[in-house]
Amino acid sequence: MITIHDNLFFLHGKDMSYIMKKDEAGYLYHLYYGKRLGQREYQIPVNYLRGFSAADINDKTVRDTPNNDVGWLPKDEQGKSLDEAPQEYPSYGRFDLRTPAIEIEYGDGNRITDLRYDSHEIISGKPELPGLPAAYGKENEAQTLRITLKDMVAKITVILSYTVYEQHNNICRNVRIQNQGKEAVILRRALSVNIDFAGGDRDVISFPGSWARERHTNRQRIHHGIQEFSCARGASGHQMNPFIIVCDTASNEDYGNCYGFSLVYSGNHSAIIEKDQYDITRAQMGIHPNTFAWELKPDDWFQTPECILAFSSQGLNSLSQSYHDFFREHFLHGYWSKRDRPILLNSWEASYFDYNEETLLTLAEKSKALGIEMLVMDDGWFGKRDDDHSSLGDWYANKKKLPGGLSRLAAKVNDLGLGFGLWMEPEMVSPDSELYRTHPDWAVQVPGRTPAITRWQYVLDLSRTEIQDYIIDAVSEVLSVPGISYLKWDMNRHMTDMPDSGYNHRYILGLYRVLEQLTRRFPKVLFESCSGGGGRMDPGILYYMPQTWISDNSDAIERLYIQEGTSYAYPLPCMTAHVSAVPNHQTGRITPLSIRGHVAQFGMFGYELNPDDLPESEKIEIVQQIETAKRLRTLMRSGDFYRIASPYAGNDCAWQVVSKDKRETVLLFARILSVPNPNVTTVKLKGLLPGENYHESGSQRIYGGDELMYMGIHIETGAQDYFSILKHLIVN
Ligand code: DGJ
Repeated sequence: MITIHDNLFFLHGKDMSYIMKKDEAGYLYHLYYGKRLGQREYQIPVNYLRGFSAADINDKTVRDTPNNDVGWLPKDEQGKSLDEAPQEYPSYGRFDLRTPAIEIEYGDGNRITDLRYDSHEIISGKPELPGLPAAYGKENEAQTLRITLKDMVAKITVILSYTVYEQHNNICRNVRIQNQGKEAVILRRALSVNIDFAGGDRDVISFPGSWARERHTNRQRIHHGIQEFSCARGASGHQMNPFIIVCDTASNEDYGNCYGFSLVYSGNHSAIIEKDQYDITRAQMGIHPNTFAWELKPDDWFQTPECILAFSSQGLNSLSQSYHDFFREHFLHGYWSKRDRPILLNSWEASYFDYNEETLLTLAEKSKALGIEMLVMDDGWFGKRDDDHSSLGDWYANKKKLPGGLSRLAAKVNDLGLGFGLWMEPEMVSPDSELYRTHPDWAVQVPGRTPAITRWQYVLDLSRTEIQDYIIDAVSEVLSVPGISYLKWDMNRHMTDMPDSGYNHRYILGLYRVLEQLTRRFPKVLFESCSGGGGRMDPGILYYMPQTWISDNSDAIERLYIQEGTSYAYPLPCMTAHVSAVPNHQTGRITPLSIRGHVAQFGMFGYELNPDDLPESEKIEIVQQIETAKRLRTLMRSGDFYRIASPYAGNDCAWQVVSKDKRETVLLFARILSVPNPNVTTVKLKGLLPGENYHESGSQRIYGGDELMYMGIHIETGAQDYFSILKHLIVN
């Protein structure tokens, strides 16, 4: 996987190669990232002095090379500039005046760093990152290359780490920085990854959004100058996911070179694209530099979060599949990561804050009768909470609503044959709470200012160990109640009033410590993450909680966009998708129950409604939906996902999941608005066995695998808006 040959570092994955080169002066260049290449003596593509590019006149290696004699400068003024060379980890201030990956402020105010190769080592497997979530890999699956760079004047050590996997096209990168000087320095920028792509027309795809409109795809041409995709709201955010794709402009779902950048981080983040004067495209990702500063005392280390890269030469869909496989095999972990999840009914849209033990038990009974496997009690069970104005922090049962406490309710729900789960928002405190009255200083704040308020709540200061411990204890007490097997961990505001520029990172490290301890303590509890829906859909959180409520918007049509956007990076087992009532509470739209069910099947399936509000015919339909979900859930969790027709491209959406052995598949086709006198509609399936026959569940119909893929399946669209069909096909 990793070989080193004559100053060249070769990293090989399943079908990809990544090559770096160091020169005699110790500069480390990026040579290649793409389809697998053989091992040869590759040259650095650009390496000579140009006008308006600074050079190192102490470095004789270039000017003594005949090809690099620029002729028009006296020999002793010629040297090497890094300003036009593709670099591995550019630093600020000397030979490269583009956007740096690292920037350090020293005691005298200067910010110059000049990193040169010092040493390297190769390690079997994938080391853990202290205090941070990261991918894993056994010794026979992965290899890690660590390259140490040093600035001998400033006494800074930087270790670049790359892990490659024999069976995957992913590279995990992270950086460690140490101050070996005698004085403290300030890290102003410490990105996790930098890649300089030479030449060519490229696009960047980002995933912006807002509350209830998360992760819509946005593709734009990379132009000269800087494009930035970032979030500085204290969390990964609804507004911009910590994931981008850089791809050939000609690429599409099935064709072209595509490169993914996925940051394993839940705080402020940024992806920066800079296309320079020589058409080199620099792509970077890491902690948002504008909201970051970190004091490094002598001998201190700073560890960046990990960035998981993926490469595909076969278009965007295969890039997504590469992430899905990687997340499933080397990232998600714990009891639930490879298990089918219970089909649950969540009380939120059924009754919001207005429930009690009796109404919840009725909801549980009705749910059980439909085939549902778990009841989740959402917001409103604790303190004196009847709306969102109070009680966050007071994690004891509201006796008016639950006179027998959590234990009696959990036992009664369990007795009905259902699992029981509940909602908490442990990182927050309401000003109107016992917790805040006792510890007003526990809210994140700057002395002398009242913190800004959102949804009547403040953020607890998770940078402090005693507050982390309080949260661990409070959540542990709730989860120790017998019969609770699921927790929805919500987070409903962004961070303001941060005391300093290192604060957000300290908060995130505190959060990870809390989650690490709780998930270890309660390994069989299914943790679901939520942040006003999908405001924290990032790998950092998924490491601890294998599924996320990806949006408060459960309107079937909106979900086509949200789930498709989310699928570019994240596999279906990470997304929860529920069927809710109509008119939809977020959009007011009325869609048939069938399309709501079909779309929700492409996620971890459940409900968000009160069955009592439904006509009998819909209850019967729900029983069938649940039977289908039980039949499909292993396939949906573990299969390959294909985007066949995109709602972003028009009126139709087609998604398909194929089992790893290719003998089972499910297809969704949805048409958003009715088309009068429509064209003949066919959908060509993907990834099947051409020589096998596929039987359609619930029908006598048999299709050849070749027929399904090459001729396509004919869809009879009805004269109705929000039309959809779901086909399940199996070789048997
Ligand atoms: C926001 C979540 O996204 C909703 O599902 C619900 O849990 C509410 N919070 C409860 O306050």
